Amino acid sequence: MTCQTCDSNAPALGERQPILSVRDLTVRFAGVEQPVLDRVSFDVGKGEVVALVGESGSGKSVTALSVMRLLPPGATLSATAVHFGGRDLQNLSAGEFAHLRGGRLSMLFQQPQAMLDPTSRVGAQVGEPLYYHNGIHGRENRRHVVGMLGEVGIPDPSARADCYSFELSGGMAQRVMMAAALSASPELLIADEPTTALDVTVQAQILRLLNAERHRRRLAVLLITHDLSIVSAVADRIVVMYAGRVVEEGPAARVLKQPTHPYTQALIRCSLFQTDAQGKLFSLPHGAVHARDLTAGCRFHPRCPVAQAHGCLDRCVVEEPHLCDTVCGCKARCWAASSEPYRVSEGVPA
Ligand SMILES: Nc1ncnc2c1ncn2[C@@H]1O[C@H](COP(=O)(O)OP(=O)(O)OP(=O)(O)O)[C@@H](O)[C@H]1O
Ligand SMILES: [Mg+2]
Repeated sequence: MTCQTCDSNAPALGERQPILSVRDLTVRFAGVEQPVLDRVSFDVGKGEVVALVGESGSGKSVTALSVMRLLPPGATLSATAVHFGGRDLQNLSAGEFAHLRGGRLSMLFQQPQAMLDPTSRVGAQVGEPLYYHNGIHGRENRRHVVGMLGEVGIPDPSARADCYSFELSGGMAQRVMMAAALSASPELLIADEPTTALDVTVQAQILRLLNAERHRRRLAVLLITHDLSIVSAVADRIVVMYAGRVVEEGPAARVLKQPTHPYTQALIRCSLFQTDAQGKLFSLPHGAVHARDLTAGCRFHPRCPVAQAHGCLDRCVVEEPHLCDTVCGCKARCWAASSEPYRVSEGVPA
């Protein structure tokens, strides 16, 4: 279906069967009154790349860690559902979950050097999920490991398998992490800023790899990133988070071409380094707001140019908007978007 408003023919929500369905995920940390995630809901379809974006502190990593059951002690989680492959992960015992994690459900972390064990050889670390989840050991395991290292672009993979992680460059270590994350053929990969620490050429190689794996294995990816150019390059859909809440979601091409929520618009303006009439770089007022510092109404209203410019401030201050359908077939949590025809050019004054 082609969108009448933005001309995009990206698939609409719900056209793919979900491999992951998260509903009303709420997370609290001990000693903090407000939840850091508040009723977060989203789906990742089979073979789909969904980008989770938002400023620092918006709750992206906590979302990923919640799904992977890796929240630190003191955190409490509640959700209506966290379904993976049709099963509610909340109902699995620790043992059952351990069989899933690193196998059908895998995660790639931001800092590979910190995640790799410096006392164990690279080959052993890539081969461990293969042994644990698929029962492949010995020479067969080694053959798979060398093959995986080759697939992720490690030169001389047989020799590299015998290295320790501290002997690798950052880009090389990220590829090793990717080989380890993919070695047991997961159905869903959660990648938390997998390329942030890498230079642009290695970044492009890693993204190309992710894309290739996604097509080859029908791998679904929840991709956490700050970088909207990455979203535009690889994501099918985008979920935008602000202060622990989902504020906009939809097909990536549509949301990036015609963002509805003023926060998404601002993120795009910042990422494009847009300037105002005086030539000053656009930036959002105040620092990122954390869920724990919230007041009533729309979470974004103290920083929102639309709330200021359109006189809808009263409503924005007292009542939080629902996630409403937009003209573009997306969803946005904004009174301005839900109540009247609304255009980007009106929303963010230059
Ligand atoms: N262990 C913890 N104890 C208390 N608060 C925490 C803890 N871990 C995270 N938080 C809070 O939860 C909120 C969301 O953090 P999260 O790490 O998910 O942000 P993020 O969107 O991943 O940010 P970044 O882009 O910087 O990685 C933040 O306000 C953070 O301070
Ligand atoms: Mg994070």
